Amino acid sequence: MTTSGSTAPVSGLDRGRGAPALPAHVAVIMDGNGRWAAARGLPRVAGHRAGAEAVRRCIRAAITRGVGCLTLYAFSSENWRRTPDEVADLTALLRYYLRHKVAELCREGVRIRIIGDLSRFDADVRDEARRAEDMTAANTRLTLVLALSYGGRADIVQAAARVAFAARSGTIDPAELDEALFSRFLLTADVPDPDLIVRTSGECRLSNFLLWQSAYAELVFIETLWPDFDEHHFDAALDMFARRERRFGARPAL
Ligand code: FPP
Repeated sequence: MTTSGSTAPVSGLDRGRGAPALPAHVAVIMDGNGRWAAARGLPRVAGHRAGAEAVRRCIRAAITRGVGCLTLYAFSSENWRRTPDEVADLTALLRYYLRHKVAELCREGVRIRIIGDLSRFDADVRDEARRAEDMTAANTRLTLVLALSYGGRADIVQAAARVAFAARSGTIDPAELDEALFSRFLLTADVPDPDLIVRTSGECRLSNFLLWQSAYAELVFIETLWPDFDEHHFDAALDMFARRERRFGARPAL
């Protein structure tokens, strides 16, 4: 049992009071690309391109600060409702980065994991995504989880369905189902729960991101639009995290 009362996979930094200052897992809701572009009279795709540069800065900051796991909400299951042009732009960016930047990340020691419903992407994007995971599987410096066509509720539903199938086939005993066992059916089974979730652009909601996994995450909302995000914002979020007292439902420190 962890001090959190959660039996979900622990981060190795099993914090209670007197928590280590550095989060083991930072997750980011990258918001504000469209507003960044609009403020400059540019098309939305320009905001997404600038956002992709901010992704590189964020990954670099996570590596240099020693954060072990970084999850980026790059494409939500709801993003498919955007115009076909914008979906095509986002998919093209994703394709470009998967094709041309994964080798560099691999050299940096980054392990890439992808969560979400990849079946909705074109076959070549799916193949590139799987190739990125395979190529980087042995790396240990930073686990980079890319949430693509991801929805937190959909993840919980697919986990529940798989639990039901496993129970029906006798692989698991329904009487033994608990939080830890359920967590193993989620797409995030092999990564710790996020300690810190950062959202840019001043919006203060989770938007279907890591709903189960965020149970005890510290939430930090910053006004900066995602394309302007850099290592200073990353550090500011880490500072805010370090000042929080995480109690996981326990009594406050006296
Ligand atoms: C939110 O901004 C951001 C996204 C919908 C996608 C995030 C994408 C990137 C950071 C670019 C890199 C992505 C890939 C797939 C390589 P918004 O468009 O919702 O901004 P708004 O709220 O100001 O309109």
